[in-house]
Amino acid sequence: RNIYILNGPNLNLLGQRQPEIYGYDTLGDVQSSCHEIAATFGLDCTLLQSNHEGQLIDWIHEAREAAVGIIINPAAYTHTSVAIFDALNAFEGPVLEVHISNVHKREAFRHHSYVSLRADGVIAGFGIEGYGLAMRRMGSLLCG
Ligand code: DQA
Repeated sequence: RNIYILNGPNLNLLGQRQPEIYGYDTLGDVQSSCHEIAATFGLDCTLLQSNHEGQLIDWIHEAREAAVGIIINPAAYTHTSVAIFDALNAFEGPVLEVHISNVHKREAFRHHSYVSLRADGVIAGFGIEGYGLAMRRMGSLLCG
């Protein structure tokens, strides 16, 4: 059973982009730690990143067949995308929202999330450890 870990725009630059906010670890590091945690629950995971809203929506649709849960960091689309919110509403399994930074400590435009209206849980401000925590929670939701 597979978990999709979806990442939105600019997260391909994780490790290089504003490291004072997002840290020096890369999406590759996220992938290896999530893989390890998923395996302890007998789960698999697929980490994907796109800078394009439509691609993220296509992957959410694909997840309806290919995944039993979604962990998503929609990045800036968090705050703008009704379309990603609608796509997630067409997915039946658990959805966990992750933000590397504490969005509530930042600009007001980052305080609202469309995705939080669908997410079963939200993690913000734990750095990339948030992904691992979300994977653990996914394990207890699906295998607990
Ligand atoms: C982010 C927070 C968003 O506000 C921002 O646009 C991002 C990353 C985070 O992980 O902290 O690109 O989702």
